[in-house]
Amino acid sequence: MTAEVAEPVPAQTQEELFEAVIAAEQRIEPRDWMPDAYRATLIRQIAQHAHSEIIGMQPEGNWLTRAPSLRRKAILLAKAQDEAGHGLYLYAAAETLGVDRAELTEKLISGRQKYSSIFNYPTLTYADVGVIGWLVDGAAICNQVPLCRCSYGPYARAMVRICKEESFHQRQGYELLMTLMRGTEAQRRMVQDAVDRWWWPSLMMFGPSDGDSPNTARSMAWRIKRHTNDELRRRFVDMTVPQAEHLGVTLPDPELRWNEERGGWDFGEPDWSELTRVIHGQGPCNTQRIDRRRAAHEDGAWVREAATAYAAKRRAEVGARTADEAQNTPEQENGK
Ligand SMILES: [Fe+2]
Ligand SMILES: [Fe+2]
Repeated sequence: MTAEVAEPVPAQTQEELFEAVIAAEQRIEPRDWMPDAYRATLIRQIAQHAHSEIIGMQPEGNWLTRAPSLRRKAILLAKAQDEAGHGLYLYAAAETLGVDRAELTEKLISGRQKYSSIFNYPTLTYADVGVIGWLVDGAAICNQVPLCRCSYGPYARAMVRICKEESFHQRQGYELLMTLMRGTEAQRRMVQDAVDRWWWPSLMMFGPSDGDSPNTARSMAWRIKRHTNDELRRRFVDMTVPQAEHLGVTLPDPELRWNEERGGWDFGEPDWSELTRVIHGQGPCNTQRIDRRRAAHEDGAWVREAATAYAAKRRAEVGARTADEAQNTPEQENGK
C-alpha cells in the first residue's frame, strides 16, 4: 500500500469503492460489495482448489498401507491429513462467498466442477510419492505463494497456512528421493521412471499457455491472480532444474537448455492435447477418482446425519437452559 492510496477514497458508487480497494492492495472481505463476476470467479477457483486438495489425497493414499517403513508411513499419513485440512480451509473460504460446501461436493461428484488434472495420473511405485512431493507440491507452491496476496481476504489468509505446509510436503518428497538415489541401481531407475512420468503433467498444472487462457487478464486486474500461467511455469522450471541436477535425475525434455540472455531455462512445449483429454475426463484415473469420492461421500452420510442431529440436540438443550435461567433469575435475585 502506498501513502497516497491510504487517503479517504472519494467513491461515488459501490463499484468504484471496490475498484479503489483493489487498487490500494487492500482486501475485499465477505460483507463487502463485490461484482457478481468477481464472486463467481472466486467461487469457481476456490472450489476447484478445495476439490484438488481432497481428490489429491487419493493417489498417495494408494500407498499408505504399503509404505516401506513405519517412518515413511507416518510421514505420508501426516501429509494426507494436511491435504484434508487444506480442503477444509478452502471450503470454509468458499462458504464466505455464499455457497454451501454440500453443494460444492455435489458439483464435484456430478462432474460439474473440476479439480487439478494432475490427480488423474496413477501412482505406480513408492518413488511416485517422492516425485509428487517434489514436483506436484513444488508446482503447487509456485501457484499458491502469490495467492497469499490475493485480493479476497479469506482466500489469501487460508493460503498463508497452506503454503507453509506445502513447503514441508515438497521437502519430504525431495528427502525421500534423495534416499532412493543413494540406494540401489533399481531404486535409482525407479526414481528416474517416476520423474519421466510426472514431469510433463506437472508443467501442465499451471494451465494452458497464456494465449489460450482467456480469463487470466480479468483475474489479474482483480488481483486474484498475480502472474500469468507461463510466468509461473517458467519460475517452476527455473527452480526445479538445479534440484534435478543435485538429485542426479534427467528431466525428460531434450529442449531444456540455459538461456544466458534471459537468465533462465528454455524448455519444450507440453502436449496440450493431453491436458485437454485429461480435463475432459479421459485421463488414466478420472473415473476411479470420482467414483471413490462419491462412495466416500455416500459412506459418510450417517456421520453427517449424526453430527446434524447432535448439533440440533445441543441447540435445544442450550435453548431450554437459557429459557430456564430467564425464568429463574428474578427468584434468585429475590432470594439473595
Ligand atoms: Fe495441499
Ligand atoms: Fe501438499
